Amino acid sequence: MEPATPVQADGPADGTSGWPQSGVTDRAESPHADLSAVGVLPGVSAKRYFELCRERQPVLYSLLRPGRVSAERTARLFADMGQLSTHFESKLEQGRGDSYREAQNKDFMIRAVGFLHLFDLAVPQRGGADRLTVLDSLGGNGTLTRIVRASRRQQDLPFIVTSDVSARMIESAFSQGLPAVRLPLENLIWFDDATFDAIIVAYGTHHIPPANRLQAVGEAFRVLKPGGRIVLQDFEIGCPTTKWYDDVLDRYTTTGHKFDYFTRQEFNDLLVGNGFGDVRVMDVYDPFILRAADPRQARAGLLNYLLTLFALEKLLPAQGEPDEAALARFEAIIRETASFAPGELAGIGGISEFTIAPEGDEYRAEIPRVCLTATGQRPLR
Ligand SMILES: C[S@@+](CC[C@H](N)C(=O)[O-])C[C@H]1O[C@@H](n2cnc3c(N)ncnc32)[C@H](O)[C@@H]1O
Repeated sequence: MEPATPVQADGPADGTSGWPQSGVTDRAESPHADLSAVGVLPGVSAKRYFELCRERQPVLYSLLRPGRVSAERTARLFADMGQLSTHFESKLEQGRGDSYREAQNKDFMIRAVGFLHLFDLAVPQRGGADRLTVLDSLGGNGTLTRIVRASRRQQDLPFIVTSDVSARMIESAFSQGLPAVRLPLENLIWFDDATFDAIIVAYGTHHIPPANRLQAVGEAFRVLKPGGRIVLQDFEIGCPTTKWYDDVLDRYTTTGHKFDYFTRQEFNDLLVGNGFGDVRVMDVYDPFILRAADPRQARAGLLNYLLTLFALEKLLPAQGEPDEAALARFEAIIRETASFAPGELAGIGGISEFTIAPEGDEYRAEIPRVCLTATGQRPLR
């Protein structure tokens, strides 16, 4: 499902795009008048974004502080952000984000096991979690929110804000009715100190340049309430999952994929170095799982999902659609790069290789993956 309320791609940065009129158009009365020249989403100025937020996302609006920094600093930040975000913008903008969003919107539960594990580390409470506020700070187009909403009872469901540096990701999330704001983790400029009960920094931490990482986690600390929890997730240097990203994504995407991943010590130091207490570093099982009526559908469905999610265009035949030869080649690559020693992941509930097995009256296709995860708590004082 693409955005229910599409946003015009190249409209002027004054809010006259495909977004509905909010009725808050009188500049003299608007508290956001000086932000009208800052483009935050395609065709949407910061001023217009706040108006839309007030209308469509009043709870998020109540958390935002547009006046925390000057319009000049805001403009500089958004100008700089274009440099950071290209991988997840659209193809025309040299990104591979269209494909990523297509896969995530269609089959968002495929990654539910890992996401829910991270969510439960961030929000361990059962009952009363609906009073909490959580920031998913590399949140893409809101997959975490959609998975949690589909999986948890109302009383276990906090208010989740998706933030991300990518304009297209936030455009997609916001257009689907999710509370979403475009900000980099390093500069959560529109949030006051001590705003959130928990923050999740996951599935993309390697995209933050190493020189920015300590500051980025420091910004997470700033916006957490005392006692608030952080969950930091990425991939460990030397792990087969990291090799998959380095070798397969780098070779078969048009964007390439060379990043600096993490050691356990670095994860520990990023949290301890920013003042977090009760720091723990662990492995979390994070598979891709797809269920279907027969084993062929389960296999093809999961392979096609991964080809789309990661935009592995160089593995596709010339006409674009994956045929059986392309699927077989991709399956061989997965077996070579995304396998673990037998029993290696048993301690965290994982299997060791791509498996298709009966489950009830369906078939379950599963590709193992493991992520490095650290948790910590902002001290109460
Ligand atoms: C692999 S995607 C994951 C998105 C989402 N968490 C998911 O799993 O579907 C990584 C995301 O991190 C975002 N990102 C990269 N650097 C960032 C930064 N410094 N601050 C905020 N978001 C960032 C990208 O724009 C992208 O949407």
